[in-house]
Amino acid sequence: MSPSTPHRVAAARLRTALRTVDVAYGRPGSGKHRVAGRVLAVLAAVAVLGACGDGGGAPGSAVGATVFAERCAACHGADGSGAVGPPLTAEVITERFPDPDDQEAVVRAGVEGRMPAFGDVLSDAEIEAVVRYTREEL
Ligand code: HEC
Repeated sequence: MSPSTPHRVAAARLRTALRTVDVAYGRPGSGKHRVAGRVLAVLAAVAVLGACGDGGGAPGSAVGATVFAERCAACHGADGSGAVGPPLTAEVITERFPDPDDQEAVVRAGVEGRMPAFGDVLSDAEIEAVVRYTREEL
C-alpha cells in the first residue's frame, strides 16, 4: 500500500516548509527562533493535511455531524442511541446495513408514515456524509 497522492504532496510541502524555516531561523545559537519556526511549520503542515479531507477526519465528517444534529437527532437520539426511531450507532447500523448504499436508500426514501424522505431535502453529498457519520462516528 502506498500513501495517497494528496498525502505525498502534503508530506513534500511539509519538508519544504521545514527547510524554509531552517534557512530563515536556523542559525546556530538562535535556538528560540528555531523553536518558533518549527512550531509555525508544524501548524502549517496540520493545515495542509486537514485540507486533504480524504475521509480520515475533517470536512465530510463535520457535514455529517451537522446534518445528523439538525435532521435526525430528534427521532434517533442526539447520540444515535434511538428514540422514536431505532438506534443508528455504528455497531448496530453496520450490522443491519452491511452495504452503505442500502442505508442511503432508506434515508433518501424514508419510511412510509414513520420517517420523512430526505432525497429531495438533502444533497447526495449530505446524505452520504450523514450515513458515513453514523457508520464511523456514532
Ligand atoms: C420523524 C422522525 C424521524 C426523523 C426526523 C428521522 N428518522 Fe430515521 N427513522 C425513523 C423511524 C420511526 C424509523 C423506523 C422505521 C421503520 O419502522 O422501519 C427510522 C428508520 C431509519 C433507518 C433504518 C434503521 C433500521 O434499523 O431499519 C435509518 C438508516 C434512518 N432512519 C436514518 C435517518 C437519518 C440519517 C435521518 C436524518 C437525515 C433520519 N433517519 C431522520 C424516524 C425518523
